[in-house]
Amino acid sequence: MDQTKKIVHIVGTGTIGEPLIGLFVRKQKELGIDEVTFHKQTPTPLDRPKIENLVKRGAKLCVDKDHWGQFENIGYKPAYTRREALERASVVVDCTPSGVGQQNKTDFYNSYKNNTLGFMAQGSEFGFGKMYARGINDEAFNPQKDKFLQIVSCNTHSLAILTKTLGVDAKNKVSNIENAQFVLMRRANDVSQTKDFLPAPQLGKHSDKSFGTHHARDLHHLFKTLSVDLNVYSSSVKIPTQYMHTLWFNVKLKKPMTLEEVKNRFIENPLVAITNRQTVNEVFSFGRDHGYYGRILNQVVVSMPTVEVLQGGKEVVGFCMTPQDGNSLLSTVAATLKYLYREEWEEKLKLFDPYIFKEI
Ligand SMILES: NC(=O)c1ccc[n+]([C@@H]2O[C@H](COP(=O)([O-])OP(=O)(O)OC[C@H]3O[C@@H](n4cnc5c(N)ncnc54)[C@H](OP(=O)(O)O)[C@@H]3O)[C@@H](O)[C@H]2O)c1
Repeated sequence: MDQTKKIVHIVGTGTIGEPLIGLFVRKQKELGIDEVTFHKQTPTPLDRPKIENLVKRGAKLCVDKDHWGQFENIGYKPAYTRREALERASVVVDCTPSGVGQQNKTDFYNSYKNNTLGFMAQGSEFGFGKMYARGINDEAFNPQKDKFLQIVSCNTHSLAILTKTLGVDAKNKVSNIENAQFVLMRRANDVSQTKDFLPAPQLGKHSDKSFGTHHARDLHHLFKTLSVDLNVYSSSVKIPTQYMHTLWFNVKLKKPMTLEEVKNRFIENPLVAITNRQTVNEVFSFGRDHGYYGRILNQVVVSMPTVEVLQGGKEVVGFCMTPQDGNSLLSTVAATLKYLYREEWEEKLKLFDPYIFKEI
């Protein structure tokens, strides 16, 4: 690590990596970051416009030493090799597909861990490090001890904030959840992706014996960092839309609540946005005009007309929407700032408050 600078290094320029590099360079000064570097794996002319644009805005391109010539031959201008970038970085954010982050940890990150403040990976890297979602388990994340983090997936953020909002007691402990079930209706692909669009719903297997899909499994492990043992189960289905993921929840409570109390909890939680709309494209469209480059940064949007209590207030059902990738991007920024600025991270994160809405 370059001791004189605060340097954030992002690995991957795909669905998550590209907006994250863009966000860090755009807000570099306000966030107190001296340099943003990023690694690109494949030398292809197709990606040149996006990479050139990121470089023009101040981010520095890093490539593997043995790919350097190939990148230069097609017009890229790398600044550092992968190893040079890792040697200089204060914080490393891995945004590579499933399994690659773990491999990168074995091949590279482990040898820099004494020299770097922290490493994080995204939704698919189960086991990479301690699970983290901003506003859910901040007290469990100690930047001095936890060198490796996994930022949970966007849908896990939604499940987590629903569970916390409904389950929390006066001492801020999540103690009121008997059990919960979720059906995640996932968009077929992200707006920037070109494959896997389906013309019909595709039903997911319950491949995890205890939790159904990885969403409830990750939720369980996220709350385990707070010593809360959640009994939760999830199912998932991919639906033919590119808008937002939607989800149905059924949360059984130990102590009953009135519908008014449930709704008030959603209204009062600053990370939850409420909406009286029941159509996803209207909420997505709100994000395009009012969000951070199209993104709503709340952790979840609850559709209030769909919320009901059953069984004398012991069961809560409803629908909500997952704000694109905004929630995991903001948790990634929060974790980066926690590594860089242990005292002032929350103050600096307020920069994004205008994109966290009370109502949509
Ligand atoms: N929370 C969310 O909303 C959300 C949404 C999507 C994804 N994710 C998570 O984010 C992670 C990345 O997914 P993605 O959809 O962004 O993937 P993606 O679009 O496929 O991009 C993957 C990137 O990783 C790079 N890469 C591949 N192999 C590499 C290697 N060995 N070393 C270095 N870089 C390598 C690729 O580089 P080249 O293009 O140069 O080959 C590409 O830029 C996953 O964990 C996923 O679960 C989260």
